[in-house]
Amino acid sequence: MSITILGIESSCDETSVSVCRDGKILNNIIATQSVHVEYGGVVPELASRAHLRNIIPTLKSCLNASQTPLSEIDAVAYTQGPGLLGALLIANSFSKALAYALDKPIINVNHLKAHILSHFIDEPKPVFPFLCLTISGGHTQIVKISDPYSMEVIGQTQDDAVGEAFDKGAKLIGLSYPGGPLVDNNATKGNSERFTFPESSVDGYDFSFSGIKTALLYFLRDHLKDDPKFIEENLYDICASYQGALVNMLFKKLEKAARQEDIDQIAIAGGVSANSEIRRRLKEHEESHGWSTYIPKFEYCTDNAAMVAMAGFYQYLKKDFGQYTDTPMPRMSF
Ligand code: KG4
Ligand code: ZN
Repeated sequence: MSITILGIESSCDETSVSVCRDGKILNNIIATQSVHVEYGGVVPELASRAHLRNIIPTLKSCLNASQTPLSEIDAVAYTQGPGLLGALLIANSFSKALAYALDKPIINVNHLKAHILSHFIDEPKPVFPFLCLTISGGHTQIVKISDPYSMEVIGQTQDDAVGEAFDKGAKLIGLSYPGGPLVDNNATKGNSERFTFPESSVDGYDFSFSGIKTALLYFLRDHLKDDPKFIEENLYDICASYQGALVNMLFKKLEKAARQEDIDQIAIAGGVSANSEIRRRLKEHEESHGWSTYIPKFEYCTDNAAMVAMAGFYQYLKKDFGQYTDTPMPRMSF
């Protein structure tokens, strides 16, 4: 008997719907919101309204493209949290209403676990146990995964997420939002050793990214005092050096965790895993550290419903269903 799961994601600024049949993703439609660009960051109320406008057209195009009538859906999986409350509310209420109308169960999915399960969409899949560095605009974690149902956070940021450090740094440099991809792009033409930024040191496998952002602020302010064209004339090297320091901090902790936990299966997930320097360093570690590394396809790195449908599939096998009365959980933990 085949199992068909509808996945719905609306935790931040991506409205996405996907269909998963027997653990295979049939398709994954993502409606990205451009309304936030002029504000330099995601505006929660605008995100919520855009989800409301997008959710039905996104669902329709997903069902059409995958040739799946609603009658074939066995359960509706949606992101319950963590995320923005107003944004989460849309998938939560929509999924509950749809599941109720279809008389099917709902499945409450944790967005961060879903990012990790994006590694099970395509081949090759990581071998258990593996470590996943989840890096996004809201989260920075090292997670130890023993099987799809046993995930343990062994390290995390104590303040800003690394995506936030990219975006806030980009803003200071004068780049638009989201700045992560722009820093990445400019950095490819720059020298990462030209400038030095202080890398934080925190215990264990934890991270801290707020100090480096302040260091960049003072660094730019001091140089601009003497030379108003400093950023313009040094843009590539500033981006490369700032990005280099962020990536160094990530890899120090990842290397430490891999060594101490004695695990050489290393995965990355979340929007920041699109970063070209992180991808290059990861590949380099296959040779230098004997790691087997796993990076999801680009469309599964940023927020998407395919990972939610995949998480829903695993939860369906365990009959891990929610209630029609369940509410969104903006601070949902593991
Ligand atoms: O996972 P995601 O799509 O949304 C969240 O759940 O946060 O991640 C978005 C984050 C943003 O901070 C964005 O700047 C960052 O991912 N990002 C990048 C790159 N592409 C996206 N950061 C650095 N380099 C990139 N190429
Ligand atoms: Zn995410």
